[in-house]
Amino acid sequence: MRTKNKEIRVFAPATVSNIACGFDVMGFAIDMPGDELVLRVSEKPGVRIVKITGDNGRLTYNPEFNTGGKPILSMMRAFGIDCGVEIEIHKQMPLGSGLGSSAASAVAAAFAMNKLFELNLSESELLPFAIEGEMIASGSLHADNVAPALYGGFVLIRSYHPIDIIKLDVPKELFCSVIHPHIEISTKEARELLPEQIPLSTAIRQWGNTAALVAGLLKSDFALIGRSLEDFVAEPVRSRLIPGFAQMKQAALDAGAIGCSISGSGPSLFALSDSRDRADKIAKSMQMALNTFKLGSDLYVSAVNTQGPRILNCQTFA
Ligand code: HSE
Repeated sequence: MRTKNKEIRVFAPATVSNIACGFDVMGFAIDMPGDELVLRVSEKPGVRIVKITGDNGRLTYNPEFNTGGKPILSMMRAFGIDCGVEIEIHKQMPLGSGLGSSAASAVAAAFAMNKLFELNLSESELLPFAIEGEMIASGSLHADNVAPALYGGFVLIRSYHPIDIIKLDVPKELFCSVIHPHIEISTKEARELLPEQIPLSTAIRQWGNTAALVAGLLKSDFALIGRSLEDFVAEPVRSRLIPGFAQMKQAALDAGAIGCSISGSGPSLFALSDSRDRADKIAKSMQMALNTFKLGSDLYVSAVNTQGPRILNCQTFA
């Protein structure tokens, strides 16, 4: 297959997943941070990762086992693309942060392939390729980072078999404060901590909140959104891995957050609120609470990113 395009540079956003009550079924994209990926047609045959930055040398250059490389290999096979390609991956968020770092690279890769080779695939057609990349990092099938990074916005996964993605409208004034404490939590390990079974009484509380969160978002009812941000499944066990979790959460609520919980498998925390000013204040309050634990952190404040991945630059053949 030939293309008029020679090289493309794309960005795919970080994501907050689970959103307290929606373990494995909810996530939303934020504006920053995110990963950049460059995909270039090359005269040398084969798929080669030629540069990775921002990973402290931890990611493999073997595309078969790289979250960005895998979707590209699979898409080349699926669409009979046999020219050589070079990949650069520029990580702009830490691994194991709970912000969907591997999903951002996987989505950037699938999105870049679609644009560079003008495949005109829809998000739902790209999703399985991005999930393949994400699975390399986490070892499990969960799409609550990949789907919002790819579709943009706030996403609900009604079913995995078959995959059924629903994009939810959210209030414009909904803002998110994220704190990333400088420790690393492996998603694989954090998943092993979870109970295999939960009592019916716990399930009832959890799905009541999940349904109410959707209703709150659609009705722009901030009080209802706030009441729904409770997690009886993952937060009780995973919060123990995060120094200062209780103090950061309390600081967020004291500063006016409508709710606060762990972002993905942590260690990042997210808090929701109804204005950017308040979200700034909440982020700083969480950081002050964490400072007493002598742990560094990064802060991000963002509305829900409705765009998802985007092209930063595209060069055509002369
Ligand atoms: N839903 C996944 C988990 C997200 O909590 O394990 C991982 O980022």
